[in-house]
Amino acid sequence: MGRKKITIVGAGHVGAHAALWAASKELGDVVLVDIVEGVPQGKALDLMEASPLGGFDAQILGTNDYRDTEGSDIAVITAGLPRKPGMSRSDLVVKNAPIVRNVVDELIRYSPDTFIIIVTNPLDAMAYVAKSVSGFDRKRIMGMAGVLDSARLRAFVAMELDVSVEDVTAFVLGSHGDDMVPIPRYTTVAGVPLAELLPKERIDAIVERTRKGGGEIVSLLKTGSAYFAPSASVIEMVESILKDKKRILPCSVYLEGEYGLNGLFMGVPVKLGAKGVEEIIEFKLSDEEKDALNRCAESVNGLIGAINL
Ligand code: APR
Repeated sequence: MGRKKITIVGAGHVGAHAALWAASKELGDVVLVDIVEGVPQGKALDLMEASPLGGFDAQILGTNDYRDTEGSDIAVITAGLPRKPGMSRSDLVVKNAPIVRNVVDELIRYSPDTFIIIVTNPLDAMAYVAKSVSGFDRKRIMGMAGVLDSARLRAFVAMELDVSVEDVTAFVLGSHGDDMVPIPRYTTVAGVPLAELLPKERIDAIVERTRKGGGEIVSLLKTGSAYFAPSASVIEMVESILKDKKRILPCSVYLEGEYGLNGLFMGVPVKLGAKGVEEIIEFKLSDEEKDALNRCAESVNGLIGAINL
């Protein structure tokens, strides 16, 4: 069996680092696509030249031509504009929707059987655009947000308690944005619930920092947004699918009644394996958590309404 083919559209900060993570984990060959001539080619060549040092075997091709993406097993879409300081995720919707529409059109022409993971923000709305354009089954199309938000929460908990990040599990649901729904009840350190380890004020502060995690990086960087953790997060999803790991990860998926929501993408726990979104897992939520999830749904529906499909 040959190597898997991973296409990454958008060779910017997130896309290029996703290519690095994917190649260095030897998940498959990587095709890096961008609209700007030379950039994907240059970054792909630089990565090929890094491969003897990183000790990984992967072909990394940079291109502006979707014909090179033919037969992709999985495609990650990072193409679009990142958030600038002072810009909300909703400001992005009008700019990024036509880009995502065009990219999906091109991708599925050459890879009708591919899985698609959306990273472009605001991703719950962009995933909706991708599903509408492709007509794909909901198993094959998803957005990356929960893995990143959960990783941020895990990192903050590990920093606070001075323990290994590996022993911290966390779940963040809902939309990617200020009204995301971190669930401290399901956040544990080596199986011990966080509430037994930290006072409520510290948990609240960590949850708040997670909620504003993207904005904290944007205000530090000043030009552009986070990319190390976002790229690692999307590749965790790619790995779970390509290796059929069946990991339970929070991902943005199209809901058809789960959690009482219908007809929109929202971050919930799912099982990711060789068939894509193999299962949507319905946790028991408190009334307060359900209300928070419903508020996310309202804001995502608001964004979708702003897009002219
Ligand atoms: N087709 C292909 N590539 C495109 C297109 C298009 N139609 N339009 C823009 N691009 C490319 C840009 O040329 C750029 O190289 O997308 C890339 C985006 O990269 P960056 O500007 O570095 O943005 P990045 O930080 O990678 O973020 C990308 O991911 O996390 C989200 O909010 C973030 O939506 C943003 C996306």
